[in-house]
Amino acid sequence: VTTVKRLGVLTGGGDAPGLNAVIRAVVKSCTNSGMECIGLEDSFDGLIEPNRSRLLTPRDVTGILRLGGTILGTTNRGNPFAYPISTSDGNRDYSDRVIEMFHKMGLGALVVIGGDGTLAIAHRFCSLGIPIVGVPKTIDNDIVGTTNCFGFDTAVDFATDAIDRLHTTAEAHHRLMVVEVMGRNAGWIALYAGVAGGADAILIPEIPFDTRLVAEGLRERARWGARFSIVVVAEGAYPHGGRRSLVAEADGAYAERLGGIGVQVASALARETGKEARSVVLGHLQRGGAPTSFDRILATRFGGKAVELVRQGDFGTMVAFDPPDIIARRLDEVVGKTKTVPMNFDLLQTARALGVVFGD
Ligand code: F6P
Repeated sequence: VTTVKRLGVLTGGGDAPGLNAVIRAVVKSCTNSGMECIGLEDSFDGLIEPNRSRLLTPRDVTGILRLGGTILGTTNRGNPFAYPISTSDGNRDYSDRVIEMFHKMGLGALVVIGGDGTLAIAHRFCSLGIPIVGVPKTIDNDIVGTTNCFGFDTAVDFATDAIDRLHTTAEAHHRLMVVEVMGRNAGWIALYAGVAGGADAILIPEIPFDTRLVAEGLRERARWGARFSIVVVAEGAYPHGGRRSLVAEADGAYAERLGGIGVQVASALARETGKEARSVVLGHLQRGGAPTSFDRILATRFGGKAVELVRQGDFGTMVAFDPPDIIARRLDEVVGKTKTVPMNFDLLQTARALGVVFGD
């Protein structure tokens, strides 16, 4: 059992529905067990700059369970080991400042809620002596060691609804509708929403596709009378022998931005099939809005477990969903890896058996 009296909590990286539910669970269980909870603003910025933190009490988190976003703010350019500074020629290492601030603020531990990038930073601070418990977050669901991250279910739900809506207009106009969903390195959203929405083709980063094979699969549908098709494509999917489609190259602290594959696939399929095609990008709509009940529960369990690990002094860990349990994993076993869709995954195989085209 630890003697932590004051706990810091921060959210880092892209937002995901359920972040506020985790914050709420952390603040409430922390306060109820006699610890103080300090909210750090905009990821590690809250430990780099003064006055970017505040005491959080149950009153401050009342009503946020159902809210998307994060009351603490977030950034995906906030790596204290390579902090972007506008005044001079690039990056500066602010990690010493973070450690100093951590102690100055009287913090005993940190709960770091973030994706792979943020958890990797957390892991480095752990090795520099800061007691940390991580909470995995990504709508892409590609963090290893946890079956689900909160936010994924909400994103899938939204994308499924979008596919349902596209179905009716696709059918009315006898068109191909291509919907581009998020999924940088992994096709979980595309696969789940694609199957849930009854898509005819699903293109994911794990399976480089051949447009001619996709078109052939869609023409097959026409043979039995279907006059429209729905294609779901993950933003990180790419044609066999080709490259991922970018809207912006990586630049300093900014990661490369993906996008554009949907419109490319639509025009290639229009050419190949002779059918009219339209494309739509769901983008950040997938990250907004209220979390589903599944995500609220998962986020609440993650937050509660994180505080339990802090109380037990079980640091250098990440909470994880290992159905039906929430467990602790070692951070060093999960950071720097990506959980992609395995080729023998039953949902992938079932989709193939149902005739869904993957373009390979
Ligand atoms: O990792 C989650 C994610 O939503 C990816 O699917 C997407 O490529 C990226 O974040 C976009 O991030 P940003 O907030 O920088 O646009």
